[in-house]
Amino acid sequence: MEGTLTARDKVGVQDFVLLDEHTNESAFVDNLRKRFSENLIYTYIGTLLVSVNPYQELGIYNVNQMELYQGVNFFELPPHVYAIADNAYRLMCSELNNHFILISGESGAGKTEASKKILQYFAVTCPMTESLQVARDRLLLSNPVLEAFGNAKTPRNDNSSRFGKYMDIQFDFQGIPVGGHIISYLIEKSRVVHQNRGERNFHIFYQLLAGGEAERLAYLGLERDPLLYKYLSQGRCAKETSVNDKNNWKTVSDAFSAIDFTEADLENLFGIIASVLHLGNICFEEDKQGCATVPDTHEIKWVAKLLGVYPSVLLEALTHRKMEAKAEEVICPLTPELSVYARDAMAKAVYGRTFTWLVDKINSSLANKDFTKKTVIGLLDIYGFEVFDKNGFEQFCINYCNEKLQQLLVERTLKAEQAEYEVEGIEWEPIQYFNNKIICDLVEERHRGIISILDEECIRPGPATDLSFLEKLEEKVGKHAHFETRKLAGPRGRKRIGWMEFRLLHYAGEVTYCTNGFLAKNNDLLYRHLKEVLCRSRNGILRECFLVAELENRRRSPTVGTQFKNSLSSLLEILISKEPSYIRCIKPNEWKEPSKFDDCLVQHQIKYLGLMEHLRVRRAGFAYRRRYEHFLQRYKSLCPDTWPHWHGPPGEGVERLIKYIGYKPEEYKLGKTKIFIRFPRTLFATEDAFEFSKHQLVARIQATYKGCLGRRDYVKKRQAATRLEAHWRGALARKELKRRKWAVQIIRRFIKGFMHRDRPPCPDNEEFIVFVRKNYILNLRYHVPKNVLDKSWLKPPGILENASGLLRKMCMRNLVRKYCRGVTAERKALMQQKVVTSEIFRGKKEGYAESLNQAFADSRLDEGDINPKVLQLISSEKIQYGVPVIKYDRKGFKARPRQLILTQKAAYVVELAKIKQRIEYSMLKGVSTSGLSDRLLVIHVSPEDNRQKGDTILLCEHIFEAVTKLAMLVKKENFVNVVKGSLQFYISPGKEGTIVFHTGPEEQIYKDKNGQLTVEKCQHLLDKGHRRSNQVARPAEA
Ligand SMILES: Nc1ncnc2c1ncn2[C@@H]1O[C@H](COP(=O)(O)OP(=O)(O)O)[C@@H](O)[C@H]1O
Ligand SMILES: [Mg+2]
Repeated sequence: MEGTLTARDKVGVQDFVLLDEHTNESAFVDNLRKRFSENLIYTYIGTLLVSVNPYQELGIYNVNQMELYQGVNFFELPPHVYAIADNAYRLMCSELNNHFILISGESGAGKTEASKKILQYFAVTCPMTESLQVARDRLLLSNPVLEAFGNAKTPRNDNSSRFGKYMDIQFDFQGIPVGGHIISYLIEKSRVVHQNRGERNFHIFYQLLAGGEAERLAYLGLERDPLLYKYLSQGRCAKETSVNDKNNWKTVSDAFSAIDFTEADLENLFGIIASVLHLGNICFEEDKQGCATVPDTHEIKWVAKLLGVYPSVLLEALTHRKMEAKAEEVICPLTPELSVYARDAMAKAVYGRTFTWLVDKINSSLANKDFTKKTVIGLLDIYGFEVFDKNGFEQFCINYCNEKLQQLLVERTLKAEQAEYEVEGIEWEPIQYFNNKIICDLVEERHRGIISILDEECIRPGPATDLSFLEKLEEKVGKHAHFETRKLAGPRGRKRIGWMEFRLLHYAGEVTYCTNGFLAKNNDLLYRHLKEVLCRSRNGILRECFLVAELENRRRSPTVGTQFKNSLSSLLEILISKEPSYIRCIKPNEWKEPSKFDDCLVQHQIKYLGLMEHLRVRRAGFAYRRRYEHFLQRYKSLCPDTWPHWHGPPGEGVERLIKYIGYKPEEYKLGKTKIFIRFPRTLFATEDAFEFSKHQLVARIQATYKGCLGRRDYVKKRQAATRLEAHWRGALARKELKRRKWAVQIIRRFIKGFMHRDRPPCPDNEEFIVFVRKNYILNLRYHVPKNVLDKSWLKPPGILENASGLLRKMCMRNLVRKYCRGVTAERKALMQQKVVTSEIFRGKKEGYAESLNQAFADSRLDEGDINPKVLQLISSEKIQYGVPVIKYDRKGFKARPRQLILTQKAAYVVELAKIKQRIEYSMLKGVSTSGLSDRLLVIHVSPEDNRQKGDTILLCEHIFEAVTKLAMLVKKENFVNVVKGSLQFYISPGKEGTIVFHTGPEEQIYKDKNGQLTVEKCQHLLDKGHRRSNQVARPAEA
């Protein structure tokens, strides 16, 4: 039902119990139609399955479907015949009790198909051992054999079962199908000799003719054409295209070998089948006395041959009758009509009993020989209620059978329903249902029932006819509320009931039966004469069927009606001891067409199948009931107390749950083990809530699951990462180790090399030397001197001292070269002058170092500074240099400003326009200066130069420059003399003076007491050259 609830809006309701208008027949039909149009042929009424014949393959009987239904809660999935089968099977296994599935419905409604599906379901889904496969195969294969002999084509069904069948499937304690047993009911023997238009005889005749091997047919004296046989051609559809006799023959003959039929059995069996066909072709003629004769005994011979009797005996038995008069037997001839009757009776009897033999034979092959306890599931595939325009004895029996089954239903379902309420302790109002026991009694009551009356008519002496039987009925049961005849009915009823008819008000509706043939059919008379012949048959099967004991037994065998009554009551006994499941089959239309739904026809079947009644009872009390555990299991998610687990008793859980979702007291009742819900809407609301919560639950479960997956994934990744890291670290560590080992070696070699560095190259220091060399050279790059003055040099390691020295030299040379290339001509000249200065003064005179930085000028006098007269006087000589000087007199040492002008040839001391002194270079003896930082210089002239009075004492600011220029012009070696302390000079030829140099507190030049010129150099003024000059100049100015 749970599955039903989910799908209820899509295609009606899957369970009629949930139908809102449960008393409305058209709503019922509507629901069936709606579902049928969607090819949903199954619908439940509680646990009863309603099936509508689809007349087409729906693809719902495959192995997948079987597996789907296997072991699933009955209500979880859409209705299916497999669900019924599985439910019965599981209950049987768990409770170790017996079950039966009652399949009913009218001809063509799908009963046989349903029973086959169930059998297949068990064959496929039940556990199986190899040794028991044979039993399973036999169970499956018994079906085609039985169908061949017991089924025939009718207008309603091409494969109509013409007998009722109850089949027990036996299971061992493991639930393995191990055997079976079949009981057949009331095979329609009349079909052997007569078929209505559009009908056929039993399939086996046609199958034998169509599929039988040529030799076999020849042996049986048969031709292939069914039209040659009277028993096969009356229905005018012997060659039916919708039935494939040839193929079916193959199936049947395969099945025969599987279920233990010997070749002899088959020979006998087909001998009987063939003999029936030959019998049908025997023709009788009337002789002059009106007795029957057989003009052509050809067929007789064949029958005699096949049945193993003497032809003459057979012929006599067919045309004569043995009468017992007092103590002696009288043989009297039969009329042709009676001969035909006798012939047909023989055919029917032979076929009927052979069918019974066949069932027995199958049973012995299905029987399980071990005596362990078995449980069974019975399948009852029996004709449903039948109402035709003309209803005869067969319909009477069939409808009686259905009354009995309805009775069972009443007992088992309607009563059981009420019993359940009692067991569960639920208060409820008993509902009224029609108990058809009264009709059953009408038919079967001893001495008073219709069957008893019929039997009485059959055996009473005197001329009993069908009419007398009818009269007897009127007399004996005329007052019964469910019985009517034309005579008993009021004026209105008269028109509808014929003279020979009686009407029964069955539970499913009224049926009018025509009494014609009732007596004959009930008697089912086979003349004794014929019986004797058959008892003496050499055909093994017939010998088993017709026992001589029967002849000796003078008691009448029970009539067909009584036999049927007895077999039904034993069937009911069988059924009553078992747990029932019901399948009600409905035929949607009369034309065997798919997708056609005849409302009227269906409504009619619903009525006589008692479905409305069933539903009403199901619904009268409570629409839904479910064991607490199951209810809780499904809906527990609706209440926080019961979700996800309820640990208390399920009943309390359910109580908590329904209180939480707000059931009103009138909506439900709590039984001992079950909850009963009164209205479908209550359940729908619950289901809707469940549907809603399901999505949330699903989301939550999904989220949890995804979370779980995520975490699992994360943990996996983390582990992977850790492992990766570990490996990577390992790899790194190994790499590091290698590197360190390498480094240790290198360092070791380095140290070794270092220790042996001073040894001549050997393997121990070779590398070290290379390294040191390389290192030094590379390092040297950054420490190369940038200019010639930069004397720095990277200190070389011991072994490289030589090379370093060479390199240093090269470097210096290179620098010098570069420097030299960069020196201009003027600068070169200047530098040459400086070189000269250096040669003269370096290390000799204080102030030299400071003077180095001061560039020499070409001249300290412009042409403008020199008096033009002077210029004119020395115009013949080019002026090389001029500088202002102060001249000190040789005697008084008076200071006078003068200009010193140097030409190529001579030096001039000039006072304004007057050349005071001209000293030719050739006459120059030298120049003296002191080693101090004073700027005094004495130009010594040669005493031979008479033009000169004495040496010249000059004070020149640019002493280094001036002396250098002069020295260069003079071009004499050792020309300049740097003295220490004092120097001598000529005041005049032969007369010398002294100049004393010393340092003192003040810078001054003066004539000391001794008449010497004293040049005092102030120590602290030594480096302030230009200020000195000012101070020096002052006395002169003064
Ligand atoms: N479930 C089904 N699916 C398909 N066809 C079916 C089904 N049930 C019955 N039929 C068709 O209807 C025909 C008659 O069914 P059958 O079971 O022989 O009827 P019944 O035994 O009630 O007289 C079958 O031969 C088959 O063609
Ligand atoms: Mg059938």
